[in-house]
Amino acid sequence: MPQDSLTITDNRTGRTYEVPVAEGTVRATDLRQIKVADDDFGLMTYDPAFMNTAACRSAITYIDGDRGILRYRGYPIEQLAERASFLEVAYLLMVGELPTRQQLDTWTDTVKYHTYVHTNITKFLEGFRYDAHPMGMLLGVVGALSTFYPDAKHIDDPANRELQRVRLLAKAPTIAAFAFRHSRGLPFVFPDNDLDYIANFVNMTFSIGGRHKPNKVLQRALEILLILHADHEQNCSTSAVRAVGSSHVDPFSAVSAGIAALYGPLHGGANEAVLAMLDEIGDKKNIPAFIKEVKGGGGRLMGFGHRVYKSYDPRAKLIKKVADDVFAQTGLNPKLEIALELERIALEDEYFAKRKLYPNVDFYSGLIYQAMGYPTEYFTVLFALGRMPGWLAQWEEMLLDKDQKIARPRQIYTGKDERPFVPIEKR
Ligand code: ACO
Repeated sequence: MPQDSLTITDNRTGRTYEVPVAEGTVRATDLRQIKVADDDFGLMTYDPAFMNTAACRSAITYIDGDRGILRYRGYPIEQLAERASFLEVAYLLMVGELPTRQQLDTWTDTVKYHTYVHTNITKFLEGFRYDAHPMGMLLGVVGALSTFYPDAKHIDDPANRELQRVRLLAKAPTIAAFAFRHSRGLPFVFPDNDLDYIANFVNMTFSIGGRHKPNKVLQRALEILLILHADHEQNCSTSAVRAVGSSHVDPFSAVSAGIAALYGPLHGGANEAVLAMLDEIGDKKNIPAFIKEVKGGGGRLMGFGHRVYKSYDPRAKLIKKVADDVFAQTGLNPKLEIALELERIALEDEYFAKRKLYPNVDFYSGLIYQAMGYPTEYFTVLFALGRMPGWLAQWEEMLLDKDQKIARPRQIYTGKDERPFVPIEKR
């Protein structure tokens, strides 16, 4: 009997089956041979929320949640955050290797070439109400790009895919900045391609008649935050991009689905919730009572815990360092003191230790974004800008993967058996 296999005995029939085990998995379709009768559909697995199902093979991002490890294409996140630029990381994720100097220069020029959006986009944005949520604007406009670039539907052409991926990476900051300006009734600032990717975004967002003074430390801090968010393997929004993209729709539509998924408070919206929690606590002296309430089941400590990380989220460690640099420039955010004390108390508490609850990426990021001048509803837009290369890398990988087909989960039907139609007067 081959060692790399699983022997299954079906106690309903007494029959035994042997199923290969490869890469720590069994193929769900191998279970279909397990039947109680010839006309039986065959055994399925039931896995709501994909708690234990690998939906793809991927060479992009590696996470070891128990040991707090995150790597993009094999490179530790700590080294990328310290030494790489965001466009370098985007190239790494999307192309597969770190660029040479010449490749990076060409890549940077190509991205800069595509930063402008059709002027109709500005009219499109003007149609949103003054209080429209920036994530709603971002997902609407990114989806609308498919109507500006109908050639994007030729997803079988590698050169065409490349062009659309660059367009998305290049135009996302422009659209995000325009959404920011629209919320404030400020005129749009168009891309300045003498500036680098981050400086250009900051300029389009904050420039007011030459009064905005660019701050290199804050710009590098923002760049590090975007790098830390650039990919996180098969999370909710990436799975949305892959599932929608598996229908072979254009990438603008697939990525707008990812933005929609990220918009949800269980995914990209948690950093907002951390700020609301710190406001609610209000003062260090209220922390013990707050922790007691959490332990008693009265809510959660936001920014703590993670489905995958069961030790300190490596991104949270790096973000803490970024926070020090940012607050040295902007002055201390009084909420930071509460956050630090909250973390200290929680990490010493048996309740959190037993459940392996540590600060996640969202615990400190909101405080930093706030210090940089972004309003809370804009935090998730910044997350989306960071995640764009990851979505685009995963979309391409999905399309090139011969194992992939249109995503189509099965179900266990729990409804009524067949019954005859009842005329309305008899119901
Ligand atoms: N505060 C207090 N208790 C918690 C917390 C928390 N933040 N997170 C989990 N727990 C407890 C649960 O009550 C549960 O306790 P029990 O075993 O006594 O019932 C146990 O820890 C396990 O919790 P689960 O909900 O099973 O953990 P899961 O992996 O499903 O949840 C999640 C992960 C959603 C991130 C959770 O930890 C949470 O709600 N955290 C707060 C929200 C947050 O910060 N989200 C951002 C995640 S990072 C990101 O998406 C970018």
